[in-house]
Amino acid sequence: MRATIRSIKAMKHKGRKIAMVTAYDATSAAIVERAGVPVVLVGDSLGNVMLGHGDTLPVTMDDMIHHVKAVVRGTEKVHVVADLPFMSYQASVEDAVRNSGRMLQEGGAQSVKLEGGRRLAGTVERIVGAGIPVMGHIGFTPQSVNQIGGYRVQGKTTSAAEALVEDAVSLETAGAYAVVLELVAAPVARLITERLSIPTIGIGAGVHCDGQVQVLHDVLGLLPEPRKHARRYAEIADAMAQAVAQYAGDVQSGRFPTDAESFCTEESILAELAEDILQQQTA
Ligand code: KIV
Repeated sequence: MRATIRSIKAMKHKGRKIAMVTAYDATSAAIVERAGVPVVLVGDSLGNVMLGHGDTLPVTMDDMIHHVKAVVRGTEKVHVVADLPFMSYQASVEDAVRNSGRMLQEGGAQSVKLEGGRRLAGTVERIVGAGIPVMGHIGFTPQSVNQIGGYRVQGKTTSAAEALVEDAVSLETAGAYAVVLELVAAPVARLITERLSIPTIGIGAGVHCDGQVQVLHDVLGLLPEPRKHARRYAEIADAMAQAVAQYAGDVQSGRFPTDAESFCTEESILAELAEDILQQQTA
């Protein structure tokens, strides 16, 4: 049985912090599940970390569904949140409901996430009305990077902080079951967390959020540049490079594969084969 929005919301009320992390493929999602993480986000950050784009804007619905399916196939217990990519929900409420539906129906996700506050409240209400749980996402919203003008911490002035609180409250009122707060000044994130009855999940938003979300590649040390709001718990890029270099060295020197890593055939078959070849050559 997978974690549900009910069990996720209950964590806030029981004072249990929610650990959420991204995953984009079956193998890493299975490892994340084994580690005991209850919520996995198939983020559109896959545009950056899996597909090599400079931002999330080129990511399509088909890209997302491809990766959501893989994560769902690799897991049994985690709640899978599918990110709605840029332009899959902004142009019309109908697009939003249909594309959210695809994430559940085709992808197998349990809920969707979209970026935006008050202006998206009506959309959230309609998606939730269709029986699809929605996680909100406010503060720095990467799909609006061109409008925001760069990767900036949000809520640093009184009016910006007030706007964020309004955004969060309107998402809760619209029926969202949780809200991601990205790059939000920690005291503002705390205020929002205390104000809402649904969980806040922070990324670069301080310790007072009800949970935290990180990009798996940051946690594992797979990216070259450490980010301020991320903590690297391993140096997997170095370990990978070292392992692959050792493998290449072993191939070049003939140390790989050994007999133990190869497959044998019976002597009698080899003898017959040698005879056949000889006959063909003398024919
Ligand atoms: O796409 C993503 O990974 C996200 C997180 C950074 C919250 O939206």
